[in-house]
Amino acid sequence: MSGKTFYITTPIYYVNDLPHIGHIYTTVVADTIARYKRMRGLDVRFLTGTDEHGQKIDRSARAQGITPKELADRVVGRFHELWRQLDITHDDFIRTTDSRHHAGVHAIIQRMVAKGDIYRGDYEGWYCSGCEAYFPETQLVDGKCPDQGHPVELTKEDSYFFRLSDYQQRLLDFYAQNPDFIRPTSRYNEVVRFVESGLRDLSISRASLKWGIPFPSDPSHVVYVWLDALTNYVSALGFGAPDDRLYERYWPADLHLVGKDILRFHCVYWPAFLMSAELPLPKQVFGHGWWLKDDAKMSKSFGNVVRPDHLLERFGPDPLRYFLLREMTFGLDAGFSDEAFIGRYNADLANGLGNAASRVLAMARRYFDGRTPRQSCGANKLRLKADEVVQRYFKAMDELELQTALEAVWELLGTLDGYVNDKAPWSLFKAEGAASESLQRVIYNGLETLRLAAVMVSPFMPRTAGALLGQLGLEGKALTAGDLVWMGLPTDHALGPEGTLFPRVDAKEFFAEALLATPAPEPVAPEPSPAPVTPPPETQPVARTGQLPPEVVAAAVAEAVKPEEELISIDEFVRIKLKVGLIKNAERVPKSKKLVRMDVDLGEGTFRQIVAGIGATYAPEQLVGRRAVFVANLKPAVLMGLESQGMILAASIEGAPYLLGVEGEVAPGTGVK
Ligand code: MSP
Repeated sequence: MSGKTFYITTPIYYVNDLPHIGHIYTTVVADTIARYKRMRGLDVRFLTGTDEHGQKIDRSARAQGITPKELADRVVGRFHELWRQLDITHDDFIRTTDSRHHAGVHAIIQRMVAKGDIYRGDYEGWYCSGCEAYFPETQLVDGKCPDQGHPVELTKEDSYFFRLSDYQQRLLDFYAQNPDFIRPTSRYNEVVRFVESGLRDLSISRASLKWGIPFPSDPSHVVYVWLDALTNYVSALGFGAPDDRLYERYWPADLHLVGKDILRFHCVYWPAFLMSAELPLPKQVFGHGWWLKDDAKMSKSFGNVVRPDHLLERFGPDPLRYFLLREMTFGLDAGFSDEAFIGRYNADLANGLGNAASRVLAMARRYFDGRTPRQSCGANKLRLKADEVVQRYFKAMDELELQTALEAVWELLGTLDGYVNDKAPWSLFKAEGAASESLQRVIYNGLETLRLAAVMVSPFMPRTAGALLGQLGLEGKALTAGDLVWMGLPTDHALGPEGTLFPRVDAKEFFAEALLATPAPEPVAPEPSPAPVTPPPETQPVARTGQLPPEVVAAAVAEAVKPEEELISIDEFVRIKLKVGLIKNAERVPKSKKLVRMDVDLGEGTFRQIVAGIGATYAPEQLVGRRAVFVANLKPAVLMGLESQGMILAASIEGAPYLLGVEGEVAPGTGVK
């Protein structure tokens, strides 16, 4: 290790929602950068965690009849589990309910108080109870809240204020002196314009809320949730604790990764708080774009989230990591669809990397008895390309252009494919046998290119890199940038066992399974209608999570509120024929993890064949003899070649189905209303 440190953070995630693709993205980006920096020999510290205070969490917990801490404890487990499934290598996970964090928040506020930057006053402004956020009069639209069109009322609240207005010029000077502080440049300009338009003092406490960190010296207030949350980046290092060695070693952060919706909190409030507390400022904040679904930001409030469970279960972590990093240009928005995922999986992973590896390795095994050739090759066309790609890869990775780095690697794989076609090693073998020096050189070059590709993709797809290096007989060694030098592959060296990196996926079968595994839309808890964003109790609201153009908001609200015309009548309901069915036989569908084929007695004399994605929760033997509720008049569908003549009803918890029970010995075919 060089002794040079690199401290990288993700935002801390709210615990009112289970993680979706948008949350995963930030964490996977951070993990890839952390792995790359470690590979370059830096002393890396990687922090993630959860944001557990505030009104949003309080309300969500109330809606479920549990305490906010109980809610947090429940959801935090899911984050830990998910980061494990995705091979995330964070060094620490902070929760804002940790006592170490309280100490840090108090310490920072005390420094701000000592600076004379905090005063007590009355807040008066327009309050939207639907969104629980304050708005200045200038932001109201037709006298209503600009986000969701709710009515607003003039409200007064006693509050502690931070003299944010005093920091306007200092912030502008700081941005001017540090043009790389905010990336990409478009976001830098956005923040500068915002600050130039004027800053007003910020309310940093709430008297009307109990779920938070008590304000130092006045426990009748709690600390404003964003001041609380932002401080995690230093409290996790021990700032404010007796042992602050980590703080001394790693602060200031090298990179805060955030979504564009929370950029201003990180680029305006956070540096101003730190200036006030006389602490060093982070070196860079990168504001990435959003994952969209159906053209709107994927978010729980809009009910359009994609959960990762099915993809992870079906493919493991690497294809999802690859897709997220390859599909989105870092900084811009991107749309998520299963079709795009499968498309990339088959084209880039199964055909691209997977094929290149199996093709070259198979020849090496065959021609040289499972060993690398005895001849290496220093100068050749493929090496020229590889050297050039490695340089481009380093440059792109250093500039956080992860997509460009991947494109470079795939360009190299394309060149490898053309090279093998040109050199036709099979003809060389046929003509001269394994002793042919040209054959040895060609195969060596192919294997060496694969080795370099494996090292370059290792921060993105660690398992795949490990598997490919294993097949090359190079398992188990920690990778460094020094491994990206041509001729790292030993000659006459035993190759590892054979394997398929990415088996091709039949898109049709995948969609049939995915449909059956679609999780319930609301797996944690219903949030009070329509979910408000965290209310920043500020005199001049800046970006709020989920702030979108009015037409997008209107569409999302219409969707969430479900206007009356979307309700169905009893006549429509009775068109669905629900019946009690008795499961007579059940068996797993071969080659499917979830599908079960059942013969079901619906009181019709003959049994119906029903295929359902319940095999991950139920073994076939648990199903036989069981009564359940079925939709009896659904059009038949073919799943993995089997016709399903109905549908079994189940509650879905995080994608896992739970069958509806039928009490007593109700006769098969009995109608359900
Ligand atoms: N708790 C705050 C962050 C406090 S950091 C001191 C918060 N939490 S969040 O759970 O709502 O969002 C966390 C991160 O996920 C944010 O960076 C946000 O931009 C990101 N994403 C949430 N939905 C997203 C997409 N649909 N797409 C990409 N990222 C998005 O904000």
